[in-house]
Amino acid sequence: MTAAVSRELDAFIDANTARFRDELVDFLRIPSVSARSEHNADTARAAAWLAAECTRIGLATEVVPTPGHPVVLAEWRGAPAGAPTVLVYGHYDVQPAEPIELWTSPPFEPTVRDGKLYARGSVDDKGQLYLHVKAIEAHLAVRGTLPVNLILLAEGEEEVGSDHLADFVQGHAARLTCDCVVISDSSMFAPGQPSLLFALRGLAYLEVTVRGPAQDLHSGSYGGAVVNPAMALARMLATLHDATGRIAIPGFYDAVKEWEPDVRSRIRALPFDERHFLEEVGAAALGGEPGYSTLERLWTRPTCEVNGLLSGYTGEGAKTVLPGVAMAKVSCRLVPDQTPAAIEALILAHLLAAAPPGVTVTVKHLHGGNPWRGEPGGPWFAAAGRALEAAFGKPPVLTGEGGSIPVVGDFQRILGAPVLLMGFGLPGENAHAPDEWISVDNFERGMRAVAAFWDEAARQ
Ligand code: BES
Ligand code: ZN
Repeated sequence: MTAAVSRELDAFIDANTARFRDELVDFLRIPSVSARSEHNADTARAAAWLAAECTRIGLATEVVPTPGHPVVLAEWRGAPAGAPTVLVYGHYDVQPAEPIELWTSPPFEPTVRDGKLYARGSVDDKGQLYLHVKAIEAHLAVRGTLPVNLILLAEGEEEVGSDHLADFVQGHAARLTCDCVVISDSSMFAPGQPSLLFALRGLAYLEVTVRGPAQDLHSGSYGGAVVNPAMALARMLATLHDATGRIAIPGFYDAVKEWEPDVRSRIRALPFDERHFLEEVGAAALGGEPGYSTLERLWTRPTCEVNGLLSGYTGEGAKTVLPGVAMAKVSCRLVPDQTPAAIEALILAHLLAAAPPGVTVTVKHLHGGNPWRGEPGGPWFAAAGRALEAAFGKPPVLTGEGGSIPVVGDFQRILGAPVLLMGFGLPGENAHAPDEWISVDNFERGMRAVAAFWDEAARQ
């Protein structure tokens, strides 16, 4: 039998949607940009705002300091004996909003247009985190109780690599003991089509600096006799791939596991509209590693990308200059069983070997995260599937994701609990980009799905 969202929870959500949206708007107004120290007070304010809201709905809440941004830890432990404990994880920090001039409405002045709530952090991840808070509120307000024990853990450093969270989870492992971890920080496969994830890629992120002359030089007086660091960096970066698009760093693929043929054919069977995807990205054509479909490239294969490049004169008009320094931000998305440390070591060795004489190269570690593959199946996936079907009218499809959530592997390793990635974003949501949005409808349906999930979780 198909599950349903309980009628009284549904009615409570119906009656309160406007207030829930207004509250989310308040949360989104706080520019909790974790990467920028000038926003540290805002990031702390977002933690305090969330904690106050968790307290208000009846959770025992603490803001726990870490060496970086604080963790918000909220608990409710009044479920009947034998009921399971569920840990909800999300993040209240957001990516920088730049380039601000490309936003249609200001990034921290949330605006609804055409069923979409636009703001930095709307979908990644404040809206998706907040819908869990509201689902908990619905249960507590309507029934005065929850069918499961709940731990809500919200961090403020996800967008900068979650550097302190593995230690936090390790240090609080007893308190965080749970039967299942639920995360909404990803997207559905298509509008109306919910998804459960079975894979996330990991990340290794480096900053490469190439130094030539002690300072910028006149390109006429010195060019041709002094090695140009911008050209040196360009040559080095060009060696990262071969002409077919495969990564050419020796050893890079050694730890990569091929995916099982049945998983690959399931990925290929998903109704993926390649033309629509091309339209969404607005490029002339797609490209990548030969031998894999677009979804396989995104979910199952590693990458090596330049995220940013800086050197020389980039202002209006021409300036004849030989730059003294060039810099690139380089990151690799990783797949099982690659590790950030091993991949960083390989890139470092490769870039040093590729550097021409006359320049010095330094490589700085920025952040990393392990890839993750889950084991779909079992009672928790089934409960999540029933809840998603109750809210969306369709069972979820199993999908992967190309992005990273560094703590997922740590949860599985330290807490030994299955992780359910139940995202309510949508393709084209502009996460990390100008005009980020969350579908207003998904914000509400997500709430209903999560509210139903607690009931389903208790039923098994
Ligand atoms: N919400 C994303 C993770 C994600 C990205 C899920 C794409 C599904 C699709 C998360 O907030 C994020 O952006 N993570 C970073 C992690 C990094 C900073 C270590 C990422 O993937 O770049
Ligand atoms: Zn993000």
